[in-house]
Amino acid sequence: MTAFKTLDDLTNLAGKRVLLRVDLNVPVKDGKVTDTTRVERVAPTIMELSGKGARVILLAHFGRPKGKVVPSMSLESIAGVVENVLDHRVHFAADCIGEIAGKAVDAMVDGDILLLENTRFHEGEESNDPDFAAALARNGDIFVNDAFSAAHRAHASTEGLAHHLPAYAGRTMQAELTALEQGLGNPVRPVVAIVGGAKVSTKIDLLKNLVKRVDALVIGGGMANTFLAARGINVGKSLCEHDLASTAREIETEAKVAGCALVLPVDGVVAREFKAGADNETVDVDAIPADAMMLDVGPKSIEAINAWITKADTLVWNGPLGAFEIPPFDAATVSAAQHAARRTEEGLLVSVAGGGDTVSALNHAGVAEDFTYVSTAGGAFLEWMEGKPLPGIDVLKV
Ligand code: 3PG
Ligand code: MG
Repeated sequence: MTAFKTLDDLTNLAGKRVLLRVDLNVPVKDGKVTDTTRVERVAPTIMELSGKGARVILLAHFGRPKGKVVPSMSLESIAGVVENVLDHRVHFAADCIGEIAGKAVDAMVDGDILLLENTRFHEGEESNDPDFAAALARNGDIFVNDAFSAAHRAHASTEGLAHHLPAYAGRTMQAELTALEQGLGNPVRPVVAIVGGAKVSTKIDLLKNLVKRVDALVIGGGMANTFLAARGINVGKSLCEHDLASTAREIETEAKVAGCALVLPVDGVVAREFKAGADNETVDVDAIPADAMMLDVGPKSIEAINAWITKADTLVWNGPLGAFEIPPFDAATVSAAQHAARRTEEGLLVSVAGGGDTVSALNHAGVAEDFTYVSTAGGAFLEWMEGKPLPGIDVLKV
């Protein structure tokens, strides 16, 4: 595996100003943070640095203010949330560069934690302007990146800073990189990937990369319909991108060439309404009624998917198998998730999951804690599955 410098390479942190990039882009509804997972994930790095006497300066973005000050996207209110999770005082400065930031940093004592305002309030963040990165760097002696979920962005606080200061991976980044290496970088075979979700169109690159790297690719969710339709199966009113039939066929061919088994549903649970508890029936995929839509894969398919999980030494999962948010169409996702969790707990499987809905699906199945690693990253996890370079990570490599 490619080597990264980690906190283990840092001695004598007392008094050092550490610019720590974290991802505090937490979901907010009606002014309240609804999920603090991302804060909890970076807490160990923050506390380790603070405990070692460093002056911990948190850099983060929030939302997409596009280089302007947007008060609703201020990190000020998030400081309190971080404080609660850490159970440690968190100071806040209303700018991430210049006099305001400089004064706040100068006032720090060893072990202090300071959160700087949203880096994206400055245009130079997203354009990765070297002058802006230099202005950020002025407040630090060391750069630590613990924001895997923002590592697909080549921004000043994720990439640029590493050209100005010695750069290290934080504990979460380190765990994430280790898990991803186990998942796809250098996995124990056989490797099975499960890819679900609504659309093929958002996951073409990902599917094309995976068929070359895994032994079996299980396709579920709405996107399975696109593959079935491309095989000439009538999917009724199911969610389906008919215009992507040739892309689906191309992916099938690439899978065949690469020796990757493409596992499509053979049966499905169909309904006429998209709502929890809707009347439903289980049919083989070649018997989907014209006025019905497939909302979950059926029991025969679950059995086949679980058999692949049993055969696998490594599992990479992105996207639910069915409409898990409206029971009973969560059955396949829950069954496969629980089966993978059991195999993992028995020490028989390395299971890595991430991206968008996947974390909520695994939480819904009650097994997010039992996987080897569940990434809170959305876009970064997908780009990693697509085999794309992640600028925030490349720059940490030694
Ligand atoms: C995320 O929420 O996925 C990360 O924080 C990155 O945010 P972005 O998609 O706005 O760059
Ligand atoms: Mg995102």
